[in-house]
Amino acid sequence: MTDPIKMTIILPHIPDIEIVAIKGMEHLASYLGISDEEKIGEARILVTEAIINALEHAGDPNPDEVRIEFTMTKEKLVIFVEDHGHGFEPEKVSDPNILTKIDSPNKRGWGLKLMKSMSDDFLIESGQTGTKITMIKNLV
Ligand SMILES: Nc1ncnc2c1ncn2[C@@H]1O[C@H](COP(=O)(O)OP(=O)(O)OP(=O)(O)O)[C@@H](O)[C@H]1O
Ligand SMILES: [Mg+2]
Repeated sequence: MTDPIKMTIILPHIPDIEIVAIKGMEHLASYLGISDEEKIGEARILVTEAIINALEHAGDPNPDEVRIEFTMTKEKLVIFVEDHGHGFEPEKVSDPNILTKIDSPNKRGWGLKLMKSMSDDFLIESGQTGTKITMIKNLV
């Protein structure tokens, strides 16, 4: 097994900045010769949802920044996303239900569910000083 490659990016709180993290992750994947487009596509969704949540929900007094860490080998990607917002209680977020959502004006609330279902392991640690999300994606 090759040594893992680690990349840390600190993102400022500006629109569409998650694209920078996605591009960086794709660059690592192509350097490592990872060709499974489906797995990389899913990793893209994991990263995007976690960063958008951090930028959108972490709240004021604002997390001026979001820290993201990728640790990647040919076999496995570990994604870590940290904000310094007010945190939340994940156990209090109810699972979205498609039938209820159809009739509801609020169609949102799918990000956490997507992250749980598309990752091979998913952990949220959240408190008053911020939120840390760790996701593991197997690439083989
Ligand atoms: N980093 C975070 N900091 C604070 N609260 C969060 C964070 N991530 C998620 N939450 C809370 O969990 C809720 C559910 O997140 P989820 O991503 O599932 O849905 P959403 O962001 O509201 O909508 P969608 O992802 O479908 O656009 C959010 O509405 C928010 O209240
Ligand atoms: Mg979301």
